Amino acid sequence: MSERPLVLLSESLPEDWIFELTSATAPELEVHVGLDVDAKSASRVRALLTMLTVTVDDALLGRFEQLRVVSNMAVGFDNIDVQACAQRGVRVGNTPGVLTDATADLAMGLIVAGARGFESARRDAAAGDWGPWSPTAWLGLELRGATLGIVGLGEIGAAVAGRARAFGMRIVYCGPNPKPVADELEAQYLSYDELLSCSDIVSLHCPLDEHTRGLVGAKSFARMRDHAVLVNTARGPVVDTSALFEALRKGQIRGAALDVTDPEPLPHTHPLFSCARCLIVPHLGSATTHTRKAMAQRAVQNILAALNDDRMPSEVMPRS
Ligand code: GLV
Ligand code: GLV
Repeated sequence: MSERPLVLLSESLPEDWIFELTSATAPELEVHVGLDVDAKSASRVRALLTMLTVTVDDALLGRFEQLRVVSNMAVGFDNIDVQACAQRGVRVGNTPGVLTDATADLAMGLIVAGARGFESARRDAAAGDWGPWSPTAWLGLELRGATLGIVGLGEIGAAVAGRARAFGMRIVYCGPNPKPVADELEAQYLSYDELLSCSDIVSLHCPLDEHTRGLVGAKSFARMRDHAVLVNTARGPVVDTSALFEALRKGQIRGAALDVTDPEPLPHTHPLFSCARCLIVPHLGSATTHTRKAMAQRAVQNILAALNDDRMPSEVMPRS
């Protein structure tokens, strides 16, 4: 019976993404796909490589007495109870930076799609409601000169702002503190409420935490401009889904373009799917081969560093 330290992957990953964990490179480790292992194996588990769909709470941690590190293959870590990990001496890693461009590209795509009403126009065309070219059909919002409100000017928010500048948009942002990067983006710092009232597009780039859960609800939609578009590539629960549906139904906003939803996955029977002014894609912000491979590699490097008691490339620190 093997006594080698065990690394559990919550999902199977292409071999060349995780080659640093494989027997040729790390013969001292054993890798297993799936988090359900028998008690004997559980006692050998030193590392978990998790996806954002895995809830890492005290109950899960309690199954692995020798666990040293939880390495999330995501920049967001709202699925992980970081304090509970700290109390058990378990380090936590995430994958910031490597997914910034892919996610910002997707956000920019959703901004264009939302502003120009791709989803309703595509539905009309596919339904046969496409007559002779008309000068007044499917009129959208011009991005040049429009105001983009960025909620959370972190790495991804700033990358979206940079792209939007190239489209001629004016940038405003909100968050806990003004950011130095705002100077080069000529982005104006506003309160959340001010941002809602002046933005043509509102794009969410904040983490999901106790301050942002349900942030965008009925009061926010009432403040937004009636031609505004909401874009969410952050986390579904930042938006109150039923309030969003109501806002779209009542015409309080022009539309929404979502990469993330609450719940997730959104059941295909959900009323939001019946709404032509809401474009929904299934949480694919970081989904390019290049980026997903880089995320997996970063997650593996975090594990190897933690098992060596080294500095992890991206460590999430518990709040003091
Ligand atoms: C994706 O949503 C991530 O947090 O990496
Ligand atoms: C539109 O297709 C145009 O040619 O103006």
